[in-house]
Amino acid sequence: MGNTLEEAEEAARELRTALVEELEHDNSLRTPHWRDAVSAVPRHVFLPSFYTAVDGSDGITRYTAVNRDTDAQTWLRLAYQNTTWVTQLDHGLTQPNSEPRTGTPTSSSTLPGVVVRMLEDLDVPDRANVLEVGTGTGYSTALLCARLGDRYVTSVEHDAALSAAAGERLASLGHRPRLVVGDGAEGCPSSGPYDRIIATYSPARVPSPWLAQARPGAVILVSLVGSLDAYGYVKLHVGDGEAQGRFIDSDVSFMLSRETRRPAIGPLMRAALRSRDNAAGLDTAIHPDLLDDPAFLWSAQLAVPGTTRLRLSADRVTGRWFLHPDGSWAVLESGNDGTTRAFQGGPRALWTALEATASTWSSHGRPGLERYGLTVAAETNTVWLDDPGNPLGVLGE
Ligand SMILES: C[S@@+](CC[C@H](N)C(=O)[O-])C[C@H]1O[C@@H](n2cnc3c(N)ncnc32)[C@H](O)[C@@H]1O
Repeated sequence: MGNTLEEAEEAARELRTALVEELEHDNSLRTPHWRDAVSAVPRHVFLPSFYTAVDGSDGITRYTAVNRDTDAQTWLRLAYQNTTWVTQLDHGLTQPNSEPRTGTPTSSSTLPGVVVRMLEDLDVPDRANVLEVGTGTGYSTALLCARLGDRYVTSVEHDAALSAAAGERLASLGHRPRLVVGDGAEGCPSSGPYDRIIATYSPARVPSPWLAQARPGAVILVSLVGSLDAYGYVKLHVGDGEAQGRFIDSDVSFMLSRETRRPAIGPLMRAALRSRDNAAGLDTAIHPDLLDDPAFLWSAQLAVPGTTRLRLSADRVTGRWFLHPDGSWAVLESGNDGTTRAFQGGPRALWTALEATASTWSSHGRPGLERYGLTVAAETNTVWLDDPGNPLGVLGE
């Protein structure tokens, strides 16, 4: 990158052109409208500071801040990389620092390949009124503004400081969409009804205000996530009083909604480990790989709602653990020698429920995620298999 402002702008333009070519090459960027938007919006303006992440040998991820001051050339090059960059740790309580540090990511700029894929999947016609939830850095908001014009874009962000920063960056480029601070689940009724609703965080279910604020014929695009961390990217078509659509895949994943409450794992895990010592092993037909299959996990999430999943390895044994807040637990232990055994304890027989789910899932021909669908009505989100007449279960909060 050169020293003058013009040279820096030229370097950014070249990097943007290279990004556009990459996104076209991998087919995430498919139409001229979005090509123009990605070519026009300078991603580096939305990434004045972000974190690179390195996974340590201790299994802990450490984050190092990158900005114009740490190394201007590297900062600019990385800003145009097709990568997700964490932009906030611990709700902003951990400030950027050039020393590597630990923390929980609470906001990020999603990789452009996913941002653009979703915008293409949204099938936005001219003059569509769009609600985005999860403003974050404001980059995807800027793409919407570039494509549609500011008056057609409303974006909701939970974190007031992030929303204000996004607003300043957008204004510096001449964009003034409606930015709202609040829970995206509430939408923004005063700017509705919407033709398109797009979520860039992952909720557990489609909130009923989105349905209420969507016009008949609208599209809702969202990546849902359940307690077992299986993601489902769904495109819903809004009809009269309900929205319906199929799962596409599990490749689009975001941070959880800030309103999602997960139980503290530490105490549940410690209690489960104590109880495991006295539990009798069960023979099982479940192969460990099944417990990483998103399609199976979607059925399992419905069968054991509220259950968390994690993996622990020690002494040549991998344990795939399932923990419920009521103290129920199950584990599938697989040894390096290929042996597997299951154990369970607590008030709910979690392993028995997972076995039953696996058996039903097999009897349906081990369906992939594309055979799953969702119907959203005022009060319920119902997941079904193949057609809405074959419900699998209802999504909770
Ligand atoms: C992956 S980031 C968004 C990426 C953003 N669209 C971009 O292009 O930079 C997810 C954002 O959603 C926000 N968020 C999470 N839960 C939310 C909620 N319930 N309501 C509104 N915003 C939420 C987070 O604060 C975070 O900034």
